[in-house]
Amino acid sequence: MKKLVVGNWKMNGSIESLSEIETLATRHHDSTIDILICVPAPYLVPAKQIAGSLYIGAQDCHTASQGAYTGDVSAYMLSDISASHVIIGHSERRAAHNETNTLVREKALIAQLADLCPIICIGETLSERENEHTLSVIHEQLIGSLDPNLNSSSFVIAYEPVWAIGTGLVPSETEIEEVHGFCRQYLLEQFGNSAEYIQILYGGSVKGSNAERIFALQNVDGALVGSASLLADDFSVIIEALENV
Ligand code: 13P
Repeated sequence: MKKLVVGNWKMNGSIESLSEIETLATRHHDSTIDILICVPAPYLVPAKQIAGSLYIGAQDCHTASQGAYTGDVSAYMLSDISASHVIIGHSERRAAHNETNTLVREKALIAQLADLCPIICIGETLSERENEHTLSVIHEQLIGSLDPNLNSSSFVIAYEPVWAIGTGLVPSETEIEEVHGFCRQYLLEQFGNSAEYIQILYGGSVKGSNAERIFALQNVDGALVGSASLLADDFSVIIEALENV
C-alpha cells in the first residue's frame, strides 16, 4: 500500500507562507509516498497552483451539495477546484462545532460522492484513556462514523488521541499498535479483504524526532501532522522518515 503523509495547517498560514508548499513540491517532486497538505479554504486555489505533484486538501465540508448555508463549503466545490482529500470529524471540530459521529458519517459519504477522499478522524480523550475506555470509544466512533456504503478504496482513517494533539505527548508504541490493529480488524470485518489497503494514519505530536519510531509500527500507514507541517524544513524530516520505511 502507498504510504500517506498529511499536513493539517488548521487555521494557520498566509499567502506568504504558501512558499513552504513550493519548497516541499520542489524537494519531494519524485517522492515514493503521497504527500498532502490540507490548507485553510482561502488558500486551496493558490496552493494547488504551486503544489506540483503534492496533493492539496481541505479541512472540512458540508453535508449538503449546495444551498442556503452561509459560510459553509460543499464537497463538490472542493472537488471543483481539484482538492483531492478532505479531513472529516477532526477532534477540534467535534469539540468546538459539536460534530457527532452521524454528521461525520454524512460528510464522509458526500465527500466520496463528490470524488474526494475523506480522512475520517477518530480518537479518545485523556479521561477516556485513563478509564480504559479507549477501544470502546474507538469502536463506537468507527461504527458511527463509517457508513457501510462507503467505498473502501477511497477513504482514510486517522487515529488522533485528543490528548496527544499539540501537547508533545505521544502514546506508547504498544498503545498505537493496539488501536491501529483494532481499526484494521474492524475495517476487514466491515469492508472485506480490500480493507487491507485502507490507509490508517497516526496523528498527535508527530515530529521529526519521533516519526521514524511511529512509522515502524504495524498498521501505521502514515501520519496526520499539525504544527510540524507548517514549515517545509520540519515537514521534510517527517516525509523522509516515511519514505524510508
Ligand atoms: P499536532 O501535530 O500539532 O499535535 O496536531 C495534530 C493534529 O491535530 C493533526 O490533525
